[in-house]
Amino acid sequence: MHLKSLDGSIRAFHSFMEGTHLDINKVLVGISGSIGAVEIQNYLTALRSTWGASVHVIMTESAASMLQSSTVNYFIDGNVFLKSTDSTDQFKIPHIHLTAWADLMVIIPASANIVGKVANGIADDLLSTAAMAAKCPVVFCPNMNEHMLNRPAMQRNLRRLKEDGYLIVEPGGEDAIQLSTGQRVQGAMPSYSQFIPRLEEILRGQGLYV
Ligand SMILES: Cc1cc2nc3c(=O)[nH]c(=O)nc-3n(C[C@H](O)[C@H](O)[C@H](O)COP(=O)(O)O)c2cc1C
Repeated sequence: MHLKSLDGSIRAFHSFMEGTHLDINKVLVGISGSIGAVEIQNYLTALRSTWGASVHVIMTESAASMLQSSTVNYFIDGNVFLKSTDSTDQFKIPHIHLTAWADLMVIIPASANIVGKVANGIADDLLSTAAMAAKCPVVFCPNMNEHMLNRPAMQRNLRRLKEDGYLIVEPGGEDAIQLSTGQRVQGAMPSYSQFIPRLEEILRGQGLYV
């Protein structure tokens, strides 16, 4: 047996013994155009080292203007997809086949724009289309300036996402640091060390991960 699949089986067994419902082996990460994108390698590494997850990534055009997709590629075992037409043999129609593959989709950092688009049913690029096509749980990790976060439209969009069954890692936890200032702020996503615990907490809250 291949070492990686042996490792997966052992983890699956432990998960079973611990009563885990959602065995997270395959994670689709969406990166949108928030400044937090420049730190994404730490979050990708946390997913792979803590869960042993296999990871594919979708980047928006804005994210790709902040961070080279070739850099992201070094930190995952899968591929980086930029456009709806980025077809591979395994993922012919990326928004359908990537989301069918994934146990979990996590959008980190989630810009105000991607939150607003998905909350309003807009699917005009690969990431927003995948978020709408996903059958697996989809978690948003919003990251933005606190004035943006506190806008009524933004708060409305976050409420809508929750009503529609999307999961949100609430921004501004105790460990949330805004990259541009180094200060803890209300609108920031969790630090990479708290990323997996926060994800597990929210999945557990849904009875998806015990
Ligand atoms: C340097 C820079 C940093 C930005 N940081 C953020 C941010 O932290 N959060 C946010 O919501 N938007 C941020 N924006 C604005 C988004 O990039 C912009 O709204 C974009 O349209 C988002 O597109 P996307 O959601 O398709 O990635 C930033 C823009 C720039 C140029």
